[in-house]
Amino acid sequence: MRQTGMQLACQLRCIKTTQNLLCSSSTQKFSTSVMTLFRHKNAKRIEGLDKNVWIEFTKLAAEPDVVNLGQGFPDLPPPPYIREALADAAVGENFMLNQYTRGFGHPPLVKALAELYGDICGRSINPNKEIVVTVGGYGSLSNSIQGLIDEGDEVIIIEPFFDCFELMVKMAGGTPVFISLRPVQENVEQGVSYSGDWKLNEEELASKFNSRTKAIIINTPNNPLGKIFKMEELKIIADLCIKHDVLCISDEVYEWLVYSGHKHIKIATLPGMWERTITIGSAGKTFSVTGWKLGWSIGPEHLIKHLQTVQQNTIYTCCTPVQEAVAQGIRKEHVRLKEQECYFLSLPCELEVKRNRMVKFLCAAGMRPVIPEGGYFMIADISALNVDLSKMEGNEPYDNLFVKWMIKNKRLAAIPMSSFVSDQSKSNFEKYIRFCFIKQDSTLDSAEAILRGWK
Ligand SMILES: Cc1ncc(COP(=O)(O)O)c(C=O)c1O
Repeated sequence: MRQTGMQLACQLRCIKTTQNLLCSSSTQKFSTSVMTLFRHKNAKRIEGLDKNVWIEFTKLAAEPDVVNLGQGFPDLPPPPYIREALADAAVGENFMLNQYTRGFGHPPLVKALAELYGDICGRSINPNKEIVVTVGGYGSLSNSIQGLIDEGDEVIIIEPFFDCFELMVKMAGGTPVFISLRPVQENVEQGVSYSGDWKLNEEELASKFNSRTKAIIINTPNNPLGKIFKMEELKIIADLCIKHDVLCISDEVYEWLVYSGHKHIKIATLPGMWERTITIGSAGKTFSVTGWKLGWSIGPEHLIKHLQTVQQNTIYTCCTPVQEAVAQGIRKEHVRLKEQECYFLSLPCELEVKRNRMVKFLCAAGMRPVIPEGGYFMIADISALNVDLSKMEGNEPYDNLFVKWMIKNKRLAAIPMSSFVSDQSKSNFEKYIRFCFIKQDSTLDSAEAILRGWK
């Protein structure tokens, strides 16, 4: 809850009056600590934003005998050359690579990104003015939202969404306006379903745009659903953005993880969209090095300059050796983009096998998976398992309790789907949980053993 200046002044007066009235030393100590608490109070902009699903569930999954298919990180080795490039950058001849580099992005990296994405988008991208490199896709989202969203602005967020979208918009003083993707009923009835069956209602989407709407955040391929937005869906969003002069923040950190029969399309390449879109990428997702925490935002100069302002007044610059290694990785994959050895093509081939395997063993346990078109997560409907959780404590959505129960009793960790939706929608999503399948076969073997022995 926000407090007005008047309310705060009132509280302060009250505490001071109480202090004057109290005279024993113990009550004085008490009132002093009340004053301290008051002075050390959080900034208003973070009020109510202290809960975080990753902190809560990562802690629960941390015990060594728990098979962790929760948080989205690969336990597969990254391509060897990129680790070697990082080692070289740190210990090689050019020791200056251990010093600060350009704040908005290491020159070789922004050049490599401009060339790669220039080719993909079919336009020339200015490496210095149309790109900013920052701390992961997370940092890019934060820069974009802090740089472009103001108090009172509305931001449309599509559910289910990567949880920080909502929290970052709120921290910037904006108002999130939610719209849900919903499954097409007929397909869901048949056991398995597909992430492409989840659609937005066009009229409902149109009704969310108004004169206060500053931006829409999209995420394709989507986390947690794995949906890849099709051209006709992107066109509807683009037309509304243009009609209402709204910005688009397009989180495309899983852009290379696309499975057979599907295609990733950048909304920025649709007519009229480049000048209003920030496209976000992540080296962590691209090269399976999530711990490197490097990401980028690409867009027109008149928007990127605001992200650059945030960057120079927050973190200022990112780790130079990591940027150097990622630059080498981008250059290497760019020249072999159409060849099968390209990591951007070989990784999704490897993951598709794991995805298909996971579908089978989730079905064997009695869950109903939604087969993702992209990304490395799969959601599954757990309602047919009929696990009775009525004796568990806590006023929490069913999926939260279910995951806690599953970690405790089955030693298998996932993430509750209600963490990826707004409070109003939790009850519509609490029959799903999310699994991550970018895992070694041995990790999937252990998960399979648990799930096949479920009943
Ligand atoms: C949709 C989405 N966007 C952004 C991020 C953050 O990416 P990074 O690890 O590069 O900060 C994630 C990470 O899980 C994600 O799923």
